[in-house]
Amino acid sequence: MTPSDYEYLRKLLKDHSGLDLSADKQYLIESRLLPLVRKAGLAGLPELVQKMKAGSAALVAQVAEAMTTNETFFFRDKVPFQHFRDTIMPEILRTRAGRKSVRIWCAAGSTGQEPYSLAMCLKEMGSSLSGWRIEILATDLSQEVLEKSRSGIYSQFEVQRGLPIQLLVKYFKQTGELWQINADIRAMVQHRQLNLLHDFSQLGLFDVIFCRNVLIYFDQDTKTSVLGRLARTIEADGFLVLGAAETVVGLTEAFKPAADRRGLYRPGNSRVLMARPAVTLATAPRLTAMAGG
Ligand SMILES: C[S@@+](CC[C@H](N)C(=O)[O-])C[C@H]1O[C@@H](n2cnc3c(N)ncnc32)[C@H](O)[C@@H]1O
Repeated sequence: MTPSDYEYLRKLLKDHSGLDLSADKQYLIESRLLPLVRKAGLAGLPELVQKMKAGSAALVAQVAEAMTTNETFFFRDKVPFQHFRDTIMPEILRTRAGRKSVRIWCAAGSTGQEPYSLAMCLKEMGSSLSGWRIEILATDLSQEVLEKSRSGIYSQFEVQRGLPIQLLVKYFKQTGELWQINADIRAMVQHRQLNLLHDFSQLGLFDVIFCRNVLIYFDQDTKTSVLGRLARTIEADGFLVLGAAETVVGLTEAFKPAADRRGLYRPGNSRVLMARPAVTLATAPRLTAMAGG
């Protein structure tokens, strides 16, 4: 790949998906894009770049998808899910007791292990959520990971990563060498393709946002922009959960770290308050009535 092809791809990825590659990541581009080159029957990366320059939007989307890192696993890092169980949901149960509903957004949900981990946590809460409307929205840039997430089908290796055996037995069915998460858990999660670089104000307000292990791929300005827009998409007393290597510190005043809760953030006082966008049943992702237990 020539230096100018590399610069072209670097800029395109930054503009399209926010991916901020340093000048020495040619190997990453090559290892991620060569399978795509072969699949498309092209001679090599220069031909791919040529086709992209000629204006193939579909190819640009495929290249951006191929460059995403989709690494995830059930109950990844454990601590965020402890916060969810022990801090977030007890407060939600108290503060939302009147309306009995909770909206949760997994803003880069990848292949589903994160949103389904949250759904299992909620199921495990049993009758305390009886009669509540639970919405978990899983979004991602990549259609491919969303398809896998929707299917809820995982390999033996994937269900052995982070998922306690009791939850595997309770919430999954084995088919041959694969495991599928049960339909009632799948029904708790709604999926949508969404690029965090684009406007997402139409989603309405969320009580809880998990936005983990995606900001790390963005440059400072993009992180600040996404965090600012997340602040306008979260209830004033909501909860933001970031990945272990991510923070709001030095980027925005719109969120403040929660005391003694690593990775957990609350909207700050300087948060730009907006009128709650009108989300109707027609425009809102499906709300799932949860019987509890
Ligand atoms: C490393 S995974 C993190 C998955 C999960 N949140 C976790 O922590 O286990 C990062 C995900 O971010 C998605 N992603 C990358 N850029 C994005 C963007 N601009 N908008 C939305 N999702 C994006 C990728 O497709 C990928 O699935």
